[in-house]
Amino acid sequence: MENSYALITGASSGIGEEVAKNLANKGYNLILTARRKELLDDIAQEITKKHNIHVSVIAKDLSKYQTPREILNFCEENNYRVDLLVNNAGYGIKTSFHETSLEDEEDFIRVLGTSVIMLTKLFLPKMISNGGGKIMIVSSVASFAAPSVIQPLYGPIKTFMNRFSDSININYKSKGVTSTAVCPGFTVTGFHTASGVQEQMDRVPKFLVFSAERIADEAIKATLAGKRLCVPTKTYKFLVFMLRNLPQSILTLLGKILAPGRYD
Ligand SMILES: NC(=O)c1ccc[n+]([C@@H]2O[C@H](COP(=O)([O-])OP(=O)(O)OC[C@H]3O[C@@H](n4cnc5c(N)ncnc54)[C@H](OP(=O)(O)O)[C@@H]3O)[C@@H](O)[C@H]2O)c1
Repeated sequence: MENSYALITGASSGIGEEVAKNLANKGYNLILTARRKELLDDIAQEITKKHNIHVSVIAKDLSKYQTPREILNFCEENNYRVDLLVNNAGYGIKTSFHETSLEDEEDFIRVLGTSVIMLTKLFLPKMISNGGGKIMIVSSVASFAAPSVIQPLYGPIKTFMNRFSDSININYKSKGVTSTAVCPGFTVTGFHTASGVQEQMDRVPKFLVFSAERIADEAIKATLAGKRLCVPTKTYKFLVFMLRNLPQSILTLLGKILAPGRYD
């Protein structure tokens, strides 16, 4: 359909950028959002050179209360019908929890949590009245892991997002709208540098690190199939099975071995 679009947050790099390229390959028109407009414009240009689709860019900061509504207004003004919503934007706070400001933590909760809920809430009614839609919420394996000594709020927010995605899925699948929580493990993106944990990332064994392209591909297949949960790669499926079934003391020990610097 001509005015059918996929809206992707955090599309300026990493998993979001690869989701955009993968969906472009499948013929989706795209709305790309993040703060860095130049990067979004470059990605839009690269995509439209290769594919006969429409790509629209809106540079916005999701830590601002009004942003989700502004994105909805932008879509409505341009008559973009969002049939696929990809809530992907995210980062980790560099500073220790006791040293951050309340504003830092509020921004963090807004980008990884509140904005996801608001965007979902704002786009859901139209999806229902259109007869269906797909939502992807990019969470993390951290949502199942033992508490980490770095970024203490990151895992809990991702757990919250898994539960939120599940609730949306249960409530609206009878109306044609499914929500998929995607839980990647360590992925090569701008995340670790942006979050000040590149050093810890460099110590993770290579067999636990995957490309953003691979994660995006599995995430999109699961979302389009309406799965409630997607843990990309067999390696992480196995790890998440263990994380859900082993006692916390063993999980913390495993965490120390497999992801040094996070569970000490
Ligand atoms: N990389 C991993 O190992 C890993 C593992 C599990 C889960 N994840 C999750 O995957 C998602 C994508 O992260 P990534 O790994 O692809 O990292 P990334 O390359 O750093 O991409 C993060 C994206 O989020 C956007 N973003 C950050 N703060 C924003 C804000 N205030 N407003 C709007 N957009 C914002 C960034 O764009 P701008 O800077 O241009 O705004 C960027 O496009 C995140 O939710 C992350 O938690 C990552």
